Amino acid sequence: MTAKLRLVMAESEPTRRLRVGARLDKYRLVRRLGEGGFAVVFQAHDTIEDRSVALKLPDLATETLYQSYEDVQREVRIMAGLTHPNILPLKDARYIDEQFVMVFPLGEESLNDRLSRRLARSTAVAYVRQMTAAVAHAHASRVLHRDIKPENFILFPDNQICLTDFGLARNQTRRHQISASGTLGYIAPEQAMGKPTYRSDVFSLGLIVYRMLSGCLPEYPFEPPLPSYSRFRKGLHQDFVDWTRKALDPTPSKRFRDGVAMHNALERIRQVITDKPAASKSKRQSVRRAA
Ligand SMILES: Nc1ncnc2c1ncn2[C@@H]1O[C@H](COP(=O)(O)OP(=O)(O)OP(=O)(O)O)[C@@H](O)[C@H]1O
Ligand SMILES: [Mg+2]
Repeated sequence: MTAKLRLVMAESEPTRRLRVGARLDKYRLVRRLGEGGFAVVFQAHDTIEDRSVALKLPDLATETLYQSYEDVQREVRIMAGLTHPNILPLKDARYIDEQFVMVFPLGEESLNDRLSRRLARSTAVAYVRQMTAAVAHAHASRVLHRDIKPENFILFPDNQICLTDFGLARNQTRRHQISASGTLGYIAPEQAMGKPTYRSDVFSLGLIVYRMLSGCLPEYPFEPPLPSYSRFRKGLHQDFVDWTRKALDPTPSKRFRDGVAMHNALERIRQVITDKPAASKSKRQSVRRAA
């Protein structure tokens, strides 16, 4: 009886600590930023360095401890091994008072939050380039993300965007959790069948690109005609339209083989938005007229 009571108290202890205003060593929790399957993310104040950070606090108490700790350890090690301007840098990871804490630079909002407001095409394309570079870097480092979705891209000043939330997607339990929480939307058909490859990350990224430029998220079986296709194409060069369509082909073998191939193909596209040449053409005409 006493042992049981102590167990209940021990389990509720971390939850009690994780409230706005609570202290974790030098960090003071300021605001809850988001929550996924196994973690809660807070904005926090580093009272020694006097600056804001994001703290990701995995909930190791509610899962089978062993399983969940392995996931978190994998995530930490993967993130620590990736250094790229478009991959969220892990500043620190350790236990503070029995709570596992991952420390990241604080971003402004997630891409998912940003997509609820109008996004200029030029900004969207600037994001697409960085997002593709991030996935290419992960793949070049032999890391399969498996959970590429707008919630896992964080925005920073000057239109910088960073990929985060690595590693946990390898866990079966988590995969079920994802479908239950309705984010199945960005998962490639073969990944939904339990066979994720680099091509599945390519597909998920292709879906985000399509959503950013059309306002619509295509659904299974992802066959043409895609929703809001004319809105998607508007002002885009055919090469970029083809690039996006290749990424979200329902047949894995027809897609880019990985993020590196997808990134290289994007780099080869000289012109993504066609509005600009139209403007420079009229400029040329007016110069000719003036001459
Ligand atoms: N560095 C950050 N700056 C600002 N907001 C962030 C940051 N990191 C995460 N967030 C917010 O918190 C949400 C959840 O973060 P993240 O995806 O890392 O964890 P999670 O989904 O809870 O993880 P898991 O699915 O592994 O349990 C993000 O979608 C985003 O809204
Ligand atoms: Mg997440």
